[in-house]
Amino acid sequence: MRKLIVTLWVCVLTSPLLLAGEGMWIPMLLKQLNEKEMHEMGMRINAEDIYSINKSSLKDAIVLFGRGCTGEIVSDQGLLLTNHHCGFGEIQKHSSVENDYLTNGFWAMNKSEELPNPGLTVTMLVKMEDVTDRVLEKVTSELTELQRSSIIKENIKTLTEAAVKESGLVVTIRPFYNGNQYFMLFNQIFKDIRLVGAPPSNIGKFGGDTDNWMWPRHTGDFSVFRIYVGKDGKPAEYHQDNVPYKPAYHLPISLKGVDEEDFTFVFGYPARTSEYLPAVAVRNITEISNPHRVNMRGTRLDIFKKYSNSEPKIRIQYASKDARVANAWKKMMGESKGIRRLNGIEKKEALENEFMQWAKNDPAFDKAYSGIIPAFHQNYSQLDRLTLASDYISEGGFGIELFQFASRFRPLVEEATKPLPDEKKLNTIIERLQKQSEEFFKDYHQPIDREVASALLKLFLENQPAGFRPDFLETINKKYKGNTDAYVKMIFDKSMFTSAQSVKELLSAFKSKNTRIIEKDAAFSVAASMSRFFEEQLKEPLLALNASNDSLQRVYMRGLMEMQNNKRFYPDANFTLRITYGKVEGYSPADAIYYKHYTTLEGILEKEDPNIYDYVVEDRLKELYNKKDYAPYGTADGQLRVAFAASNHTTGGNSGSPVLNADGQMVGLNFDRCWEGTMSDLMYDPAMSRNIAVDIRYVLFIMDKFAGAKHLVDEMTIIQ
Ligand code: ARG
Ligand code: GLU
Repeated sequence: MRKLIVTLWVCVLTSPLLLAGEGMWIPMLLKQLNEKEMHEMGMRINAEDIYSINKSSLKDAIVLFGRGCTGEIVSDQGLLLTNHHCGFGEIQKHSSVENDYLTNGFWAMNKSEELPNPGLTVTMLVKMEDVTDRVLEKVTSELTELQRSSIIKENIKTLTEAAVKESGLVVTIRPFYNGNQYFMLFNQIFKDIRLVGAPPSNIGKFGGDTDNWMWPRHTGDFSVFRIYVGKDGKPAEYHQDNVPYKPAYHLPISLKGVDEEDFTFVFGYPARTSEYLPAVAVRNITEISNPHRVNMRGTRLDIFKKYSNSEPKIRIQYASKDARVANAWKKMMGESKGIRRLNGIEKKEALENEFMQWAKNDPAFDKAYSGIIPAFHQNYSQLDRLTLASDYISEGGFGIELFQFASRFRPLVEEATKPLPDEKKLNTIIERLQKQSEEFFKDYHQPIDREVASALLKLFLENQPAGFRPDFLETINKKYKGNTDAYVKMIFDKSMFTSAQSVKELLSAFKSKNTRIIEKDAAFSVAASMSRFFEEQLKEPLLALNASNDSLQRVYMRGLMEMQNNKRFYPDANFTLRITYGKVEGYSPADAIYYKHYTTLEGILEKEDPNIYDYVVEDRLKELYNKKDYAPYGTADGQLRVAFAASNHTTGGNSGSPVLNADGQMVGLNFDRCWEGTMSDLMYDPAMSRNIAVDIRYVLFIMDKFAGAKHLVDEMTIIQ
């Protein structure tokens, strides 16, 4: 396979170029695969300026922020930019009704005011290496899949251990191209990350979930952190004496802005895409799973909203949960719609027919590939039901907060009921539960959860046939005649997990005999019944079928690369550092409509509505607007640009990624995609798929003019 990929690359260099925009490329291979095209599209720097292991390069400024976002270093003192929604959890944790940083924003006016965030890390790639040959050593085509994966696992373990020893870095080996190629990644992990600044939510989250996943957009979605290290300059746990990190490189920031057709690229950590799935899998996601999950999430959101609108305390408590639930809810809707509009399933089927035809023409291909598509079909004939049943457990049953909370006590029961419980382990579990309980009750509003529980259980009963429902649902049907309100009332009235006091007492004086109280608890029993159902009925077949699909996908991917040996393939996103490039451009979302590529402050005032939470505009922002006090961040026509759209192929995890211009200077901060293009995780559409970025000038404007934190702008390298 390795040889195959290499030959493919050689072909590619002389073959016609792909549609601009699509693809998430590997930094180390940029020179080989993409540099030429990037230059043709307007880039003025070289691949070596973006990724190099011989000199400092752009990659030294890009980090994985926490576990799900990207961030970039923008000063020689470790100043870090990411999205407001990426720092949201941290901002919320520092907030209370009295000190509401979510609502009012937060700005450290000097380093001593910067706030530590225990648990938050930032990960930086030092270098990567292709280790395919070594990972696949001793792997032959005669092996079973099980043997194959156990050899690979062993090889990965040996290689990783040796590399850790030699480099002193954090090392992982990850599969690419569905396991046809492997790269070793050497990382550094920073652990003292402090909050420096965040705009008020009606800037950082302007438009809220109403505008989420949509263009035209006016969200100032940024927050500011700083990396601290030990006095020796090395990553260290939080300590007050730690010092700001001096990076090998920090991104220069351009005030020149972007015009339509300008080349841009995005450098960051896309989490997951599935561009090479067969039609049956795309159908499973977009026609079965998404619609049901959308329905369950929509039900929860309606209830959250009813309560949040009436009480500020509840709004703060549910802000994070609401954003989390709403985000995937809207994305899934857009994705299903997009695939339908593209006739994505039909297109995949056509490709599969071509693939089958192609394989038939050559005995070796026939042997290797003709069985793949039928085998996928075979798997999905079972998976369609199983994945749905599993969705109802995770999004239906465990969409109920009480059940999710109660199920956290399972490890405690398990340990305590062992013949010889391990005291130390028990104590660790208890301490963890004490912390989790505190966090849970801080943000829990029981009336919401009761309503959610009743509504979700109703959906569960309506949509899951007998045989695909945990036992307690039969109780609702028989004993309660399907009346979920009555059932929920019984559970919530009886369970001790609704009371912070009872949980506290239980944990502070826990004795092994207390396990019976837990096991008999009404909510705990339901949670246990769901988990048991999952473990006994769903887990094994799901694991087996998914493992089988993984193997099929690996072979299918290899086959596609052999069939289309003129095409340049990019590997699916897997939370490793990637580069995607495209152009600043608008799009036409529907007949007769064209969306321009940028928005302005003007648009914020147009959207303003003091009665709608998502569209409240700060007085201070209006003042600045009225005075047109934009310099030096405004444009020649007297406007202040807020956001822009471009055809970079991004996904979740790219939030917080820098959008860079042809000279490698930062011009925007990526935070979203447009709704009409969200199916790009399964199928990219050059006509519709757009990433959305805050214009960096708006970010600086808010810091400087709005918040009076010009000292932060002064720290950066600004290109006029
Ligand atoms: N859609 C963006 C992403 O996937 C932003 C999410 C946060 N914003 C929100 N309004 N919920 O992460
Ligand atoms: N908001 C997303 C994130 O958190 C990025 C949007 C997308 O999925 O493209 O990563």
